[in-house]
Amino acid sequence: PLPTEVTIWEVGPRDGLQNEAEIVPVEVKLEFLDRLAGAGLTTLEATSFVHPKWVPQLADAEEVLARLRRHDGVRYPVLVPNERGLGRALAAGVTHVAVFASATETFARRNLNSGLDAQFAMFEPVIGRAREAGLDVRGYVSMCFGDPWEGAVPPEQVVAVGKRLLDAGCSQLSLGDTIGVATAASVERVIDAFTEAGVAVGDLAVHFHDTYGQALANTLAALRRGVTTVDSSAGGLGGCPYAESATGNLATEDLVWLLDGLGIKHGVDLDALVETSVWMARQLGRPSPSRVVRALAG
Ligand code: HMG
Ligand code: MG
Repeated sequence: PLPTEVTIWEVGPRDGLQNEAEIVPVEVKLEFLDRLAGAGLTTLEATSFVHPKWVPQLADAEEVLARLRRHDGVRYPVLVPNERGLGRALAAGVTHVAVFASATETFARRNLNSGLDAQFAMFEPVIGRAREAGLDVRGYVSMCFGDPWEGAVPPEQVVAVGKRLLDAGCSQLSLGDTIGVATAASVERVIDAFTEAGVAVGDLAVHFHDTYGQALANTLAALRRGVTTVDSSAGGLGGCPYAESATGNLATEDLVWLLDGLGIKHGVDLDALVETSVWMARQLGRPSPSRVVRALAG
């Protein structure tokens, strides 16, 4: 059985842009966010309060949030890795934050300058303090389906990391295929490992990068398991600067096309979204990799 409705968690302004080599002007970021909300997206991951030297592209997080034209009914989550990041996010008036853990030792070191166990010493106080401040906290788990340095990742290891985030107070987990190596079978295995460990499927979201062209098939597998929150980025922008071979996320347009075909509600105006991605592609100086954008544009 498929869900009747899906929440699209748009990560284009954050995951999509964090990997861009040329700094995207703040005006362009603001217009991008405004257009995405105008196209009907209700969850817009706006930016990250990470170390500006680690991700220079998002060093303007304060300015983006200060100048953001907030649309009614739209939430604007941001990434925070540590207490310093949370302090900045609170000062900027955010209501939704996300921490981002790694399912593997190597990526915890590369992305967080930490370790598989040590990362919780960073996240747990952040989650606690955010909850006390009344914020909703999402927990990402990266490298759920494979890691460029460690290869296959045991589902039990992924579940252990995810459960610690839930126990610490995260309201939802986003299962990241950071480098896009998952297939429908591994998606089922990891989701089943969570549900067998007592985690409700409603507390799981999926976050697929499309490196091997499997993101849509993986999404369908997750929907069939009952997942109702799917991450994607407009036009298929994205990647992680600290993960080799990470490419763009599942394109939101491709996701919308799939959901329309399945008769699943999502609230997005596909034409307005394609127009936004065509506009953004012009700003970035290269065409969108999304098949649906290419099919529908111009
Ligand atoms: P570190 O260098 O170990 O930090 O970095 P530290 O705690 O040792 O602090 C060093 C200095 O940085 C201190 O300043 C801190 O105040 C400052 P000093 O006292 O020396 O003057 N500092 C900060 N400044 C501003 N904002 C902050 C901050 N934190 C410390 N937040 C750290 C550790 C976690 C900060 C660093 O590794 C980092 O920023 N990593 C982020 C990497 C990143 O953003 N990666 C991409 C997002 S994850 C992703 O894309 C995957 C995902 O999409 C899911 C998937 O696809 O799987 C989510
Ligand atoms: Mg990602």
